[in-house]
Amino acid sequence: MIIAIDGPAASGKGTLGKRLADHFGLEHLDTGLLYRAVARVLLDQGTPLTDRDAATVAAENLDVSHLDDPRLRGAEMGEAASVVSAYQPVRDALLAFQRQFGVQEPGAVLDGRDIGTVVCPQADVKLFITASAEERARRRHRELLNRGEETDYETILRDIRRRDERDINRSTAPLKAAEDALTLDTTHLDADETFQAALVLVEGRIPRN
Ligand code: DC
Repeated sequence: MIIAIDGPAASGKGTLGKRLADHFGLEHLDTGLLYRAVARVLLDQGTPLTDRDAATVAAENLDVSHLDDPRLRGAEMGEAASVVSAYQPVRDALLAFQRQFGVQEPGAVLDGRDIGTVVCPQADVKLFITASAEERARRRHRELLNRGEETDYETILRDIRRRDERDINRSTAPLKAAEDALTLDTTHLDADETFQAALVLVEGRIPRN
């Protein structure tokens, strides 16, 4: 079984993906981490993010065993990932790994921007998770404050809008719901309610035995 989850930055798709994977006993891949890791390699090398060839080499040689590196988290890396993820050769280089992850037994949950449209168009269930930009900014703000990081809401909202703009309007694999995706707007739902609502959608799609 493959569950594909797509949606904009800070929509809660990572948290939901993990919970669905735990519930159904599936593997989980947050594909945003791959793009974050590519950006991290460039930053560590001191190479500008605009260097498309260097980003491609980094993606082709990516060591996927370090996706738990805490330096990949945070808004700054998300922004950097958004830049390198717009390069088609970078996306091409990361495709095979994602597809292989999807077809492993007993199944997998993948979350990102183009899982239902490009990576796993054959997924059994496709969810598109959204929430208003203001609500996503509020959640991110709260999360950073809880971690003791100094931030302000307006800056986070502006960053989220800029990232949405870039992810939606890029020519390669833009963020959009697959035609057969089920959309879940979580603006007025907390994490538990989101999980329960997603569970109903998934169970409505998977064949019962
Ligand atoms: O989900 P995230 O915030 O970790 O993603 C970081 C960036 O990576 C996002 O702005 C766009 C890019 N991305 C992508 O292009 N395709 C994916 N499947 C996942 C992420």
